[in-house]
Amino acid sequence: MSTVVYTADDGIVTTIDGRPGDSVMETAVRNGVPGIVGECGGSLSCATCHVFVADDTQDLVGAPGDLEDEMLDGTAVDRRENSRLSCQIKLQDGCAYHVTTPREQL
Ligand code: FES
Repeated sequence: MSTVVYTADDGIVTTIDGRPGDSVMETAVRNGVPGIVGECGGSLSCATCHVFVADDTQDLVGAPGDLEDEMLDGTAVDRRENSRLSCQIKLQDGCAYHVTTPREQL
């Protein structure tokens, strides 16, 4: 099991137990977590799963790949240094993830 803590732009925190191998986006959508749309279902073509990765999660998730990096230039809210597309963050067993969702995704 993994744990994902989602902090919304308005400060509301939602904590979900996720399944290893699922993405942070899938875990949010399946559990009705607000703030992540995931319009393309994780095929890296919509950028509506944008999140800001907390400092304590940076080492765990690493940097975006080249295509993800390009897609991050098209997010609804401007990207930051810690931006990732959450469909590309796969949960590892026994790990905890903290992300903040942007004000809007579309
Ligand atoms: S769900 Fe579309 S890019 Fe992540």
